Amino acid sequence: MTDLSTLTAEARRRDAADPRFGRPGAYLTSGIAHLNGNSLGPPRASLSGELERAVSKQWARRQVGAWFREGWLDLPRSVGDKLAVLLGAGPGQIVVAGETTSTTLFNVLTAACRLRDDRSVLLAETGAFPTDLYIAASVSTLLGRRLHVVPGTGIETFLREEGHRVAVALLAPVDFRTGERRDVAAATAGCHAAGAVTVWDLSHAAGILPVRLDGDEVDLAVGCGYKYLGGGPGAPAFAYVARRWQSRVDFPLSGWHGHAEPFALRPEFEPASGIDRARTGTPSVLGLLALNHALDPLLDVGTEALYGRNRSLAEFFLDCLEYRNPGLLSHLITPREPERRGGHLAFRVPDADAAAETLRERGVLVDARPPDLLRFAFAPLYVTHEHVVRAASGFCDLLEGLS
Ligand SMILES: Cc1ncc(COP(=O)(O)O)c(C=O)c1O
Repeated sequence: MTDLSTLTAEARRRDAADPRFGRPGAYLTSGIAHLNGNSLGPPRASLSGELERAVSKQWARRQVGAWFREGWLDLPRSVGDKLAVLLGAGPGQIVVAGETTSTTLFNVLTAACRLRDDRSVLLAETGAFPTDLYIAASVSTLLGRRLHVVPGTGIETFLREEGHRVAVALLAPVDFRTGERRDVAAATAGCHAAGAVTVWDLSHAAGILPVRLDGDEVDLAVGCGYKYLGGGPGAPAFAYVARRWQSRVDFPLSGWHGHAEPFALRPEFEPASGIDRARTGTPSVLGLLALNHALDPLLDVGTEALYGRNRSLAEFFLDCLEYRNPGLLSHLITPREPERRGGHLAFRVPDADAAAETLRERGVLVDARPPDLLRFAFAPLYVTHEHVVRAASGFCDLLEGLS
């Protein structure tokens, strides 16, 4: 950059101002700037020890008894309750059943549709993550409903005109491509006014944005464990069911861990009361322990501070670009106003894969969404303002090389 030393000095000043973030050695970053936490961030340095203890002290020492004596059986609930703090939900409404987000969404979406058997339409956004659309199509076919997919901006209009037919609206607080944010409270209220049940995919919001599931009267929700939550590759997903629905939801995946008395081993299924009925089968304990471990530093800092840091990093990135050449911001497809954004910024470039590779060679990891989308995510705990200068500098060089 023209004046890299000025920006670097400013970055160091900002980083030094709050020691809760960017703690040296807390995450295994290998010196790389990880601007891809909306996909998979680095592990905590203490994770290996945590897993090693689980293997040698819990598994090896207690063997099968660890299910009861080490709290393994309760992990889906206890990790869910921890997550609830980040997501603005009271205890007993979130479970981490050990499934993928796709399976969890299938279970939750089917149950949501069954709550409105009298209505024919399942509503989704064109910009939804593909798995959400695939699952929504499958659920619609299975239940004999009609999937209606409209652009995000068309949801309100559709609800106004056809709302009386809508059983369920599947929505996301953040567009996974553009990073644009949707107002959860307003959209949920709009769906409720039409008599529809809401299912939110929180994958790009959990661990980065302030979410108020209870306060915003969300009905049901799901989300990935491996993005900003940092649970690691293939971390289990979570499901939220508002308490007011818990005695009525009828999940299609009626596995024995969702039974009222799993160890009675009865031949007939009787759903557990409360959120436990969203459980399925034997959960992946090591995956749950890794996610559990990842949540502690997020909880220590709290959602408002996480969000504040995210905004500071993203704004600084945009400031660096503007400082170098305001014209470069024409590549930005995310809204410029911070309150209209999720945790990442998205830019259009001619060849996203090649651009990501160029940045990787300069020690910056970003997400490419071919053919032409580059996403920069600003995870609060391990991305520093100094990383941001490095990323912005590399990206400016790249963009200027295009012209
Ligand atoms: C918004 C959203 N939902 C769902 C998924 C898929 O989740 P899974 O692979 O855990 O099924 C992703 C993956 O990136 C996603 O971004």
